[in-house]
Amino acid sequence: MHEVKGIISKSKKEPVTLEKVLVPDPGPGEVLVEVKACGVCHTDLHYREGSISNDFPFFLGHEAAGVVFSTGPGVENVAPGDFVILAWRSPCGTCRSCSRGRPWYCFESRNATQKMTLADGTPLSPALGIGAFAELTLVGAGQAIKVNSDADPAAAGLIGCGIMAGLGAAINTGNVSRGDSVAVIGCGGVGNAAIAGAKLAGAHTIIAVDIDDRKLKWAKEFGATHTVNSIGQDPVDEIRKLTNGNGVDVAIEAVGNPLTYEQAFYCRDLAGIVVLVGVPTPDMKIELPLLDVFGRGGSLKSSWYGDCLPTRDFPVYIDLYLQGKLPLEKFVSERISLNEVEQSFQKMQRGEVLRSVVVL
Ligand SMILES: NC(=O)c1ccc[n+]([C@@H]2O[C@H](COP(=O)([O-])OP(=O)(O)OC[C@H]3O[C@@H](n4cnc5c(N)ncnc54)[C@H](O)[C@@H]3O)[C@@H](O)[C@H]2O)c1
Ligand SMILES: [Zn+2]
Ligand SMILES: [Zn+2]
Repeated sequence: MHEVKGIISKSKKEPVTLEKVLVPDPGPGEVLVEVKACGVCHTDLHYREGSISNDFPFFLGHEAAGVVFSTGPGVENVAPGDFVILAWRSPCGTCRSCSRGRPWYCFESRNATQKMTLADGTPLSPALGIGAFAELTLVGAGQAIKVNSDADPAAAGLIGCGIMAGLGAAINTGNVSRGDSVAVIGCGGVGNAAIAGAKLAGAHTIIAVDIDDRKLKWAKEFGATHTVNSIGQDPVDEIRKLTNGNGVDVAIEAVGNPLTYEQAFYCRDLAGIVVLVGVPTPDMKIELPLLDVFGRGGSLKSSWYGDCLPTRDFPVYIDLYLQGKLPLEKFVSERISLNEVEQSFQKMQRGEVLRSVVVL
């Protein structure tokens, strides 16, 4: 058993606190990881707001890179000393999706079996099955993905959630291809990663939409060819104007809001694809004329974790980053310590950062 300090969300909407956490030694199929860096994702804030579930206390942090400290019996995919990115999808191999050859949707993803706890033994709910705002964390072996150790942990860890979600929303779910036109609505870390993904995939027009000019300036750096500030103008009209009146082939919603979903729905060309990657809250609803759903054709998709397969995708994106083709380091807006996580949520809400990254 190891005693570390970790960031805990004890009750709904209350500031997070730094608490003593007990982390067991790895059992069969488990890996103990020394966390080197962990990004602050909007989903951590969703947990603290109680909008994901009520299973408090949560052990936050899930966008992390680190070094394997020790492995439990039967672990073969990694060894102590390996540099890894933590994944919140670890395909089981046997669920109805895996057994049909679609592990990127796995419905029974595997996490550590043993619980990490507070000092008094209260079991913690690790965010997305990880819990990495701490010096050590216990994960399922399949969640530890070995990548090239030349990568800066602060940049590499981001591939573990938001950046992979955005890249994959464009490349895997939206299937953006050479010559496509793409709109991305909401240009936080996830949306800007979708822009970077669309650029990597060869899109010729990439329209970034946000309500914050700072985000749009960054969007240009990631590959947006045009930007639209949707305060005071209708982004659907603007996107049509920029695409010969037709709309885009792929519209990616990276906010998680009915208004922006509707914009994504209507800014598409006929037969276009909508990808919802933003996470809505339980109270949200949409109402669309069914005739428009039919008449506009195409497809309405949701993207969980960019439909990624971590063992396939993480090493590839880290290599592209090391080759200078994917500017992962530009997502790191600031490096902070564990006790600055609460302030980083406020910075995120004020739109000041793409990613605050806790460096340990
Ligand atoms: N699907 C997944 O697997 C997955 C993974 C990680 C994160 N997410 C979700 O993706 C979303 C974005 O995450 P993030 O970390 O980039 O958050 P973020 O807060 O950094 O970015 C959200 C962006 O949306 C913009 N925005 C807000 N309202 C808008 C509006 N009406 N029109 C246009 N833009 C608007 C904000 O200015 C901001 O730039 C969140 O809902 C998060 O939970 C999904
Ligand atoms: Zn499975
Ligand atoms: Zn996340």
